[in-house]
Amino acid sequence: MNNIIIAVDGPSASGKSTVSKGLARKLGYNYADSGALYRAITWYILDCRIDPNNNAAVIKSLDDIKMQFNVLNGVVNFLLNNRSLTSEIRAESINKYVSIVSAVPEVRELVVKWLRSMADCGNLVMEGRDIGTVVFPNAYKKFYLDASSEERAKRRHNENVPQSESMSVKEVKESLSNRDKLDSSRKIAPLRIASDAKVIDTTSMDIDQVVDKIASLL
Ligand code: DC
Repeated sequence: MNNIIIAVDGPSASGKSTVSKGLARKLGYNYADSGALYRAITWYILDCRIDPNNNAAVIKSLDDIKMQFNVLNGVVNFLLNNRSLTSEIRAESINKYVSIVSAVPEVRELVVKWLRSMADCGNLVMEGRDIGTVVFPNAYKKFYLDASSEERAKRRHNENVPQSESMSVKEVKESLSNRDKLDSSRKIAPLRIASDAKVIDTTSMDIDQVVDKIASLL
């Protein structure tokens, strides 16, 4: 595998998605959103009326998931059991359970296998929580994006997600903070800054500034 991997990690709403997409476009690389896969599994579990806290049932359900990937216009897309998932995986019900589901070792093992296979399709910018630490420890360059919790809550609140319309900035901040706590404290592959990652605080930067900064560092 000789393709170039750029890892972009960081907490929820730190700007990873927009920055990673912009960076991939600028470099002509493919873009992959690893969180979308954990969200898709969580969606499937809830759709099947499986209790996300029941590890055995969650693990069993993985056998019924068939994931297919394709690259379209530089974006790695997926179909879960032939179904395309978009806004449904951004719902607050998914935000609530995704950290619980993604802490299950068998779930992580499966997703990491899918993520590594994406490197076969070309040069890649991948965003997530453990891309630089676990998925691609030998990535060409690693970035860790962060921003103040207030700024992250404001950004997420302003995103056009239907559920966030009915939530206050304070409620969004609480939801993000709960997820950050779970993501940072889980036993396997917690959110952590890779020792060789460049940390960028995006609190007072706009997307273009972050993309330009990363591009200048590459
Ligand atoms: O990036 P996101 O907010 O869409 O990710 C949703 C959840 O998926 C996040 O709260 C934790 C999990 N996740 C993970 O455990 N590892 C990753 N590499 C990406 C996401």
